[in-house]
Amino acid sequence: LNYRVPRTRRDIFQTLIKGLQRLEYRGYDSAGVAVDGSGKDHAASISLYKKTGKVKALDEEIYSMLSRAELDTHFGIAHTRWATHGEPSPVNSHPHRSDKNNEFVVIHNGIITNYKELRKYLVSKGYEFESETDTEVIPKLIKYLYDNRENEYVSFSTLVERVIKQLEGAFALVFKSIHFPGEAVATRSVRAMVSLKLTNEQEKNLLNRRGSTNALHSVHDRLAVEFYLASDASAIIEHTNKVIYLEDDDVAVVMEGKLYVHRIKRKAGEDPVRVIQTLQMELQQIMKGNFKAFMQKEIFEQPESVVNTMRGRICFDSNTVILGGLSDHLKEIKRCRRLILIGCGTSYHAGVATRQILEELTELPVMIELASDFLDRITPVFRDDVCFFISQSGETADTLMALRYCKQRGALTVGVTNTVGSSICRETDCGVHINAGPEVGVASTKAYTSQFVSLIMFALMLSEDRLSMQQRRLEIINGLKKLPELIKEVLALDDQIKSIADELHHQRSLLVMGRGYNYATCLEGALKIKEITYMHSEGIMAGELKHGPLALIDKHMPVIMIIMRDACYKKCHNALQQITARQGRPIILCCQDDPEISKMAYKTIELPQTVDCLQGILSVIPLQLISFHLAVLRGYDVDCPRNLAKSVTVE
Ligand code: G6P
Repeated sequence: LNYRVPRTRRDIFQTLIKGLQRLEYRGYDSAGVAVDGSGKDHAASISLYKKTGKVKALDEEIYSMLSRAELDTHFGIAHTRWATHGEPSPVNSHPHRSDKNNEFVVIHNGIITNYKELRKYLVSKGYEFESETDTEVIPKLIKYLYDNRENEYVSFSTLVERVIKQLEGAFALVFKSIHFPGEAVATRSVRAMVSLKLTNEQEKNLLNRRGSTNALHSVHDRLAVEFYLASDASAIIEHTNKVIYLEDDDVAVVMEGKLYVHRIKRKAGEDPVRVIQTLQMELQQIMKGNFKAFMQKEIFEQPESVVNTMRGRICFDSNTVILGGLSDHLKEIKRCRRLILIGCGTSYHAGVATRQILEELTELPVMIELASDFLDRITPVFRDDVCFFISQSGETADTLMALRYCKQRGALTVGVTNTVGSSICRETDCGVHINAGPEVGVASTKAYTSQFVSLIMFALMLSEDRLSMQQRRLEIINGLKKLPELIKEVLALDDQIKSIADELHHQRSLLVMGRGYNYATCLEGALKIKEITYMHSEGIMAGELKHGPLALIDKHMPVIMIIMRDACYKKCHNALQQITARQGRPIILCCQDDPEISKMAYKTIELPQTVDCLQGILSVIPLQLISFHLAVLRGYDVDCPRNLAKSVTVE
């Protein structure tokens, strides 16, 4: 939003498009933008442009149509969509509008769960809907309230508050209107409400002009002439590194060059002031550089990202580990009944990868849970449980819901995230920031290895005063010290890995097999392959081979096996024999100099050896690289796999 700085419509449009392109990794099936109209009375009209596909398509289509008309007060809104209701199409993409004159336009992240009732109500009032989305009820509802305000003056923010009181679900919204030119209203909330019932009483409530609770109690009066509202800092980092994070139920209004933030419902004792924070993120951190894709860049960043995760936390001289974000709760954690690690996708796999060493060093029972399943089961959680919420983005809806569920039951909640200021960061009692730097590729890579290292550091911190564990701790701490160099050695195998991908890229299926510390690598490797190559892939626990998967094996089935020199080495050997006996010739990830294994493999990828519980950090990298090369060879967009989004903020 720009106030007082003369800008052309094209400038505003380009700022929005650039911001969208930086956000594209989060969801990308369509995009749209709404800017002030052109001509003399530009503020009295809004132009809407929408397009299916990537942001580039939108950019190309409308660039030439935008005039260079200079505007003195104007603002535009833009959105990339990842479809939840209704297929990707121009009409279903945002911004959504109240009517053909675009009187009110809205962009929305999240989901409105009571949209059917609202839609029915608005249809009964004569509103015509053009999309299949849940979002469209919002601009229609605000217009309905505006049209029924009779002679009362109602501010834009009051109207927005009245709208959101009727919404159930999770939402972050930005509104623009021709009735309030140059003004923007944004809000966010997660709310479960009773559904709108169409009684006379409730209809009166809906239009109740005195029911507003918009006491303005917190004003950030800044002299800035430009304000940016975004759902992700990467969209705005090139303009400013000063940000305010909105809390649920905050309403932010930009009007006449000033930003006002106030709360709809203020709880007793709550601090109304939203502090301005300074972001550490640099623009170049979210640029691709010389790499073909963000995913490739992020794979190759791992020697540095794991160092950043450990920086200032491990003292290699005294063998101590301090995670500052947990220090205040250490006593409580040590006394707990069990640890529960909760996440989705890759973040869940980080839990699988570290469970064994957590059990060994903490001597506590450790449960690992997929957030969605954990909630489906209404899992018993107690006050003396410690629940970890692992999430790169810190915004995954399932993980966030699980966090709120555990909090309600009195458990201590710990966040393990990569995004400072994210919802999971803010809502947990304490946490560890993994410091991997911004991750843009949808397929998570460096965040996984940094989550892995963070959880290992937690196990080391918890076992610091256990005499019997000291030898083991020392071994792991030394292993962590050497880790960045060993990761570089693995990355140096890239050419060899690419030649394996050359041979595999026409296959339809790829099995990944292993056990013990490397089972998580199988799950994570198979997930990478599925996500970006669209090949069928399964991570198989080698111990389960004879209970089913063996039936898949013949000389045509491509299999990758992970056989490292650890306690499972012999058992993995047995599995290998069962496979070769059925004419399978697997590609094997093994330790350097293992002639016995090499004889039985079709090909080997030889990795440096490290401590057993850290080996998974090295063994996952060849699988990240294989999936990257396979996707490129198969002609797919590595960073934007079809149907997937980086942060899934819907249940
Ligand atoms: C989505 C992404 C996955 C990611 C998962 C969890 O499904 O496509 O790559 O692992 O969400 O995301 P989080 O941000 O919570 O780690």
